[in-house]
Amino acid sequence: MPSYLIAGNWKMNLRRDSGRELAAALANVDVGKDVTIAICPPAPYLGELCDACRGTSLAVGAQDLHPAGDGAYTGEWNAEMLKDIGCQYVIVGHSERRAIFGEDDELINQKVQAALASGLRPILCVGETLDQREAEETENVVAAQLEGSLADITAEQMRNVVIAYEPVWAIGTGKTATPEQAEAVHSYIRDWLKRRFGDMSADVIIQYGGSVKADNAAELLGKPNINGALVGGASLKADSFLAICRAAGT
Ligand code: PGA
Repeated sequence: MPSYLIAGNWKMNLRRDSGRELAAALANVDVGKDVTIAICPPAPYLGELCDACRGTSLAVGAQDLHPAGDGAYTGEWNAEMLKDIGCQYVIVGHSERRAIFGEDDELINQKVQAALASGLRPILCVGETLDQREAEETENVVAAQLEGSLADITAEQMRNVVIAYEPVWAIGTGKTATPEQAEAVHSYIRDWLKRRFGDMSADVIIQYGGSVKADNAAELLGKPNINGALVGGASLKADSFLAICRAAGT
């Protein structure tokens, strides 16, 4: 059985003081059994928050990276820089990056490879739109995203990859997938991973994301193939985020 990973995706929110306060409220909180808690703050605050969290139980991740090594890429940062400041995770292929910034599976695959090569754990996001769900394309869409984003990844490398299933229609909308809808896709993903990577797939953390809140977390996290949550809105306040983390620990 994999352990749980609850990650807060702050997106483009909070400021220096509010971020510091939130991180301090989350550091070293024991939420019970085998639960790792991570925050993914905006890039300008990453270094400072990595420093603040060093030596605590709170892990830090970035929301994106550029796949190249050092070079002329104004405005970008790479995996080695994230590793250098103390990040452990990096979100890759979030639906907002796919939709707003035009990221495709080939680029996302390069980012996954770059993250792994530097010793970061990528949180690879996959998920269907409402139109795709209504057209009963969910499994095909998710399979194609996994196929493209995990191209050339070995089973050994896969040990360090986290998958986040985030139905696009549930992100920031207040519409959560029911625990049964989510578990059906998670179990499909687990089977896909098993075909591709063999027995190690049983240990891969598959997070659910999309309007996870304190009052729906326990039911979602109670499903056998849901091993954590990628949380947007509800991760911006310590009490709502910790309630979700505690739901994983019970
Ligand atoms: P949400 O965002 O919890 O606000 O729906 C989740 C995400 O986009 O990772």
